[in-house]
Amino acid sequence: MDEKIIDFHSHILPGVDDGSPDVETSLEMLRLSSEQGVHIQVLTPHYYPWKEDISSFFGRREKSLSVLSEKSPSEPKIVCGAEIAFFRHMRDGDLQHLCIGNSRAILIEMPFESWSNSVVDDVSSLCLDLDYRVVLAHVERFMRYSGNRRKLQDLSALPIVYQINAEAFLHFGTRGLAADLIRSGYDIILGSDAHNCTSRRPNLGEARIYIEKHFGKNCLRRMDATAMSLLEIQT
Ligand SMILES: [Fe+2]
Repeated sequence: MDEKIIDFHSHILPGVDDGSPDVETSLEMLRLSSEQGVHIQVLTPHYYPWKEDISSFFGRREKSLSVLSEKSPSEPKIVCGAEIAFFRHMRDGDLQHLCIGNSRAILIEMPFESWSNSVVDDVSSLCLDLDYRVVLAHVERFMRYSGNRRKLQDLSALPIVYQINAEAFLHFGTRGLAADLIRSGYDIILGSDAHNCTSRRPNLGEARIYIEKHFGKNCLRRMDATAMSLLEIQT
């Protein structure tokens, strides 16, 4: 199979979270995503453990997915997962239902604060004890909290992947952070984190143009290979 461009993070599934409100919006978002060159669109609705249990979320998600799947185009291909808000002892939850597609990859949104050692331990346990392929969502957003840069460095010793939002490369104020993450040599993938067709629209292609210009085509190839390996797609 040829290399695929994967948007690893989006809120396109209709009526499940604060992303797309209806199927029409979702279809337009998928069209915009295809225009951006995306072959595989990962759908990652928010899962907040303090709002509902995993089985209730899973039921809502599957219902929405079946409605969208009936009308969605052949490209981009949609694959469903979740953006799981970190919670203590999450390793004890039934996270298999929240993995992306049929893979062991899970997308985790870390706490918006300085991470404690116990948070890092919980994430490590998911990687090392339970063999989840952990992806930390939009890591650039957490670097302003004291100590988190160091924690990211420590965590990078694990088989862990850091996802950066496309918008981080498109704004002057955040480009430096995103560039630091790339230069650190971490395993990095991209996501649009698209929520709608306007203010938070699919924008992966725009970020890829910037990355290719400043970091080279091989940087994009590495990201694509990492994303494909997470979804267990063979090249
Ligand atoms: Fe998100």
